[in-house]
Amino acid sequence: MTFVTETGKDIEKAARLLTEASLVAIPTETVYGLAGNALNEAAVAQIFEVKKRPANNPLIVHVHGTDQLNGIVRHTPDLALKLFDAFSPGPLTIILPKSTAVSSLVSAGQNTVAVRIPDNQITLDLLRLVQFPLAAPSANTFMSISPTRPAHVLAQLGGKIPYILDGGSCNRGIESTIVGVEENRIVVYRSGAVSGTELSRLGVEVVSVSNSAGVRAPGMFKKHYAPNTKLLLTKSIAETATMYEGNAIGLLTFGDGVVTGNFEVVRNLSTSGDVNEAAYNLYDALFELDNLSLDFIICPFLPDCGIGVGINDRLQKAATIIIN
Ligand code: TXA
Ligand code: MG
Repeated sequence: MTFVTETGKDIEKAARLLTEASLVAIPTETVYGLAGNALNEAAVAQIFEVKKRPANNPLIVHVHGTDQLNGIVRHTPDLALKLFDAFSPGPLTIILPKSTAVSSLVSAGQNTVAVRIPDNQITLDLLRLVQFPLAAPSANTFMSISPTRPAHVLAQLGGKIPYILDGGSCNRGIESTIVGVEENRIVVYRSGAVSGTELSRLGVEVVSVSNSAGVRAPGMFKKHYAPNTKLLLTKSIAETATMYEGNAIGLLTFGDGVVTGNFEVVRNLSTSGDVNEAAYNLYDALFELDNLSLDFIICPFLPDCGIGVGINDRLQKAATIIIN
């Protein structure tokens, strides 16, 4: 189906469309989501179709509060409740045992469902209005850059969905952290906007499998979050710039250090060296540089602290070549 995609702030309109099993792009604090009624199979099937997402990659279900969990999970372990208490609404997704109300399309055949309470007032209001949970992957086409501005959604999904609910720029900028809970430990499947340090404040063991080879876990398709332009992720901007001299290169930088090299365009993710600011700017900068018909984008690794861990994970999945 084709649409004239409208962008607007009309929550009632978004609710009406979702109730009719149409799809709406919704703002969250992490990235925009491509939302549909999680309890309606036709809506869920459309999400996979519009996103060109393989059916074996499950969706995150968004709710407005833990009182909505009843309808979608079999039970909520104490540790999961503690996590919701500490981090929700917020950029944390928790994998829980799925109830039969949620179609196995959502969970890609698994008996678990990933749930989160987004920290965005517009979307929380929308969730309260519709009263059903919303399944929503990031509102990009499969493997591409996640959208953090309405214009990013329009560029990728324009004509394919009727409505983009405009919530401005997403203030966190990279996707939620995805965790599972076991006996007395937290397993991080995808690093993200909630850092390992924050999780460990709960006083239980935190283990990360988000970069382990061979683990079947979220966000682990090898190429992901990627621009069309070849991305060179490097420990040394100067060396890489010399190696690729003669090409049209766009540079992403971080911090206030001087960079040498021949670049068509330079975009600084955070001059003050703040990883949170870098996360906020990351996907927008990638979109911008990807539109300039460059030969390469060079980007340095960011400091492995806080949200920087999640950023480096995304950059590694987006990179064509990693130069260590
Ligand atoms: O911040 C976010 O999480 C955004 C916003 C829109 O909420 N959503 C997002 O969705 O990043 P998506 O579909 O791009 O990534 C969700 C990841 C996928 O990699 C999927 O494999 C994983 O969550 N996932 C979903 N359900 C799962 C489950 N039951 N078990 C394991 N992984 C699951
Ligand atoms: Mg995604």
